[in-house]
Parts: sequence; C-alpha cells; structure tokens
Amino acid sequence: MTTPVNPGSVVAPAPPWALLAELTHACPLHCPYCSNPLELARRSAELSTDEWTDVLRQAGELGVVHTHLSGGEPLLRPDLERIVAAAEAAGIYTQLVTSGTGLDETRLAALTGAGLRSVQLSVQHADPGANDRIAGRPASFAAKERAAALVRRAGVPLGLNVVLHRDNLDAVDAVIELGLAWGADRIELANAQFYGWGLLNRAALLPTRDQLARARETVERRREELAGRIDLVWVVPDYFDGVAKPCMGGWGAVSLTVAPDGTVLPCPAAASLPDLNPPNVRDHRLAWIWQRSPAFDRFRGTDWMTGPCRGCPRQEEDFGGCRCQAFALTGDAARTDPACALSPDHHLVREPADGDRPEAPPYVYRRPGAVPAPAPAPAPTV
Ligand code: SF4
Ligand code: FES
Repeated sequence: MTTPVNPGSVVAPAPPWALLAELTHACPLHCPYCSNPLELARRSAELSTDEWTDVLRQAGELGVVHTHLSGGEPLLRPDLERIVAAAEAAGIYTQLVTSGTGLDETRLAALTGAGLRSVQLSVQHADPGANDRIAGRPASFAAKERAAALVRRAGVPLGLNVVLHRDNLDAVDAVIELGLAWGADRIELANAQFYGWGLLNRAALLPTRDQLARARETVERRREELAGRIDLVWVVPDYFDGVAKPCMGGWGAVSLTVAPDGTVLPCPAAASLPDLNPPNVRDHRLAWIWQRSPAFDRFRGTDWMTGPCRGCPRQEEDFGGCRCQAFALTGDAARTDPACALSPDHHLVREPADGDRPEAPPYVYRRPGAVPAPAPAPAPTV
C-alpha cells in the first residue's frame, strides 16, 4: 500500500474511511484498561447535537463510510438517536459501542429507527462476578446479558468486544461459549494495550507468556471448530512477539477520532502526546484537519522515521508501530515502537513481559480524578 502524503507534500492524502466518535467520556463502568485519556473530558465541554451533526456531515463529504459511536458510554447522550440519524443522513454506517448499561427496548427501537446498523457490546469476563469486579460496577454483567438479548431480538448484528489480560485470558474458552450463547456474530478478543489507563495498571494486567500461549491455542482450535458460525478475531499482544503492530492502520492513514470536546486525533490515545497541538472541529473544517493539519501530518507516511525504521522493509506494513506506546515508554513519540525487536528500547517491553509476576496490585479504576493532575508549572520569576 502506498502511504499518504508526507509533510510538505502538495498531494492530498487518501480520504479516511472510519471515524471514531467519542460522544462522551462519562461512563458507568471503570475499566482499568480504558483507552480514554487519563484526563477525561468534562460533560460541559462536550460537542452539542448540532456540532456532532455538522461533524458527521463533513465526515461523509470527506469519504468516511463507517463510524463507531463510542465513549465512555454513548447511551448517556440523550441525543444519541439524533446523532445516529445525522450519520445515516450523511451515508455513514453506524455501530454503537456500548457497555450495555442503560439499553432498553424503547431506546434500542429509537436507535434502530434512526438508522443504527450494529452493536458492539463490551464484556469483561464470562463469569458475572469477575466481570463486575473488572468493570468496577456491580450488576454490569446482568445489564450486558439483557442488552445482548434485546439486540438479537431486534435482529441487529451483535459483536462482543473483550479486552484480554491477566485476569481473563484463562477464561477465553468460556468467553467464546458466552458469545455463542448470546448469539453474537463476532467476538473481538483484543489483548490489552499498555498506554494511558492500561499502562497505569500494567502490573495488574500484564499476562504471562504461558497464559497467552494457552489462550492463543484455544482461539485457534475454536476458530476451526466454529468456522461459519461465529467470527473470532484475535488482536495480537505486542509485548510478547517482538513485532510492532500497524497501529490504526498508520497515522492519519485510514481513520480519525473525534473526542467529546471536538478535539480531532489520529488515534484515541494521541491526546497524551505533548506538542501535538491537535486541532478542534470548533476551529477548523474536518477536511483541513485531515489533509493539512500539522498534527495529522506529524507521523504520516515514512519521512518522519529514524533508525531502525528508516529503510526497514516492514515500514509500510507496520508504520513503525504505535506512536503513543513509543512516547509512553521512551518519552519520544518519534522513536521506533519498543514492541519491535529491532528497537534499541525493546528491553522496555521484554523485561516486564518476561519478568517475575508478583501478586497483582489492585486496579486503579478509571474515574475522573483517579490520577492527580500534573502540578501547574511554576510562575516565571522576574
Ligand atoms: Fe517496523 Fe520499524 Fe521495527 Fe522495521 S524497525 S519492523 S519499520 S517498527
Ligand atoms: Fe496512538 Fe497507537 S494508540 S498511535
């Protein structure tokens, strides 16, 4: 695949096809691996219905064909039906990404009536008690079970998304059984990523190599057995294989994320990168943001790469890995992702992956204020 425009180029990048719309950071669950930034957007800062309608109209014009309506918990937006309708009017396929909490028959009917095409339900574990403990919310498993039944009864395609880690990898077979029992068409088994909340909780979440090997074997066996019945997607754990993942299909290559306050990012975690100065839909058109903004050009293509990515035969397959992970582990977003065995920083993932596993510390649950805000810079002295 040819990579899109590099900084300074006059050639417009290929259009994006996917938009992750983070409608709110508010959420009834408190998962310790959440992909939202440590500093969560306030509800008062969220885009209005009209602003989301305009964003989706612009996205459709730009070429976006698929949107994940996500959060936080998007059902907490009372105007979700109107946002779905706006996406539908813009010719964009909508998938609701939800914890299931707060979904009832009336709401689902309103959403499908507005054009909702599919639902992706997060599940933390096949065991109700373990699910609720990981989610940090009692009775959340029961809400998911009810939501799955409603979605299936409505004839809407249902996917489950399960973030895998030390506390649930041994239950992967039970998770697959749960997906079958709930009538899911697809289960995404996504090994936890370690930046943001995930990095904060890495000591509690990082599995052992043996756990991973067993889970991988189970998934391969079940995939063969269940071919044609359910789609099992295994999202690789990049700490263990020495291979960097092609994060987001490349920076500014195929998708964009709009955060609740209108900040537009090449990936949900990029808010953590200093000096990125991400643009906002309140200040700029989406087309300018995608095609011309310095933030989207920053790591687009391959010109930004330094050794060992520069000249590497895999540079157009993995795009040098994840910028957010490179920054989280090395402090420099432009370095090769330490997940890659060729990275001079590879020990930063190898040592925790292969090190001893003392008793897991308790989770730091995702909650506003769970992580102290950085102290303000001291006032300059004159
Ligand atoms: Fe990918 Fe860079 Fe590693 Fe090469 S050196 S395999 S481009 S991450
Ligand atoms: Fe941001 Fe990978 S999560 S580039």
